[in-house]
Amino acid sequence: MGQLDGKIALMTGAGRSVGLGVAHELAEAGASVAVNDLHRERAEAALTEINAGGGKVIAAPFDVTNREAVAAGIALIERELGPIGILVNNAGIPEGIGATGPFVDSDPAQWHFNLDLNLYGSMYCIRTVLPGMKQRGWGRVIQISSGAGSRGVPNVSIYSAAKAGIEGLLRSVAIEMAQTGVTLNAIALGLMANTGERMGDSPMLQQVFRTIPMGRLGQPREIGAAAVWLASDKAGYVTGQTIHVNGGSVHGR
Ligand SMILES: NC(=O)c1ccc[n+]([C@@H]2O[C@H](COP(=O)([O-])OP(=O)(O)OC[C@H]3O[C@@H](n4cnc5c(N)ncnc54)[C@H](O)[C@@H]3O)[C@@H](O)[C@H]2O)c1
Repeated sequence: MGQLDGKIALMTGAGRSVGLGVAHELAEAGASVAVNDLHRERAEAALTEINAGGGKVIAAPFDVTNREAVAAGIALIERELGPIGILVNNAGIPEGIGATGPFVDSDPAQWHFNLDLNLYGSMYCIRTVLPGMKQRGWGRVIQISSGAGSRGVPNVSIYSAAKAGIEGLLRSVAIEMAQTGVTLNAIALGLMANTGERMGDSPMLQQVFRTIPMGRLGQPREIGAAAVWLASDKAGYVTGQTIHVNGGSVHGR
């Protein structure tokens, strides 16, 4: 019997990398999983990879930054799978926007890409599923965040602001929901293997390695294991927290 048997999960940005790893773990723990991604083909390809542990897995492509699309997408999922009890907000890297660099050189016209995705996208999903969770007396909201949401990390200031913003929302809403059976928590990641691969053998990557006590980058399924625990009944007394899963690093990314 899986820890999440009978639960229904929406996993955003799950067509690849971290989100895909978390979706694998949720499904193997027995949850039915709606695999969301901006790209339909990524969401559908993910289905063929995921081994369901008893629940059903469906593709749920929509843009989390579009409020109407979120409402329509969630309505479709709930018709097909049933009421969502677990929301994992993972979509958080705006595609094609190279928004890294010193704040002093940043283009204000680009700031909204990070805020739209990390802050508004997550808020739209939370706001849509929360009333049902509250009414049914059980729910889990898990936000995939970054060490950059709670510590200074140079050259990702707008991303940091967005992650800090959504973690602040979770902490406050967690208190509002504390007596309803609904918990809201964040998992803050350090640098993950997928990003390490994209960075190649750069001096910057070597520098990051030196800040990770375990001397290696994170794997998506390690984030999934933390998400499964937070989603389980066993974590019912944990709310409003940010759990850092980063190999013991004191520096985020
Ligand atoms: N990879 C890292 O090193 C790292 C470090 C810290 C935190 N994080 C966090 O982990 C999460 C996942 O990161 P990743 O590296 O797996 O990203 P990724 O870019 O590899 O994958 C993210 C997926 O989200 C999808 N997506 C993008 N915009 C979307 C939208 N508007 N609606 C729905 N889906 C959308 C993309 O199509 C993509 O498939 C993010 O929240 C990120 O901030 C990652």
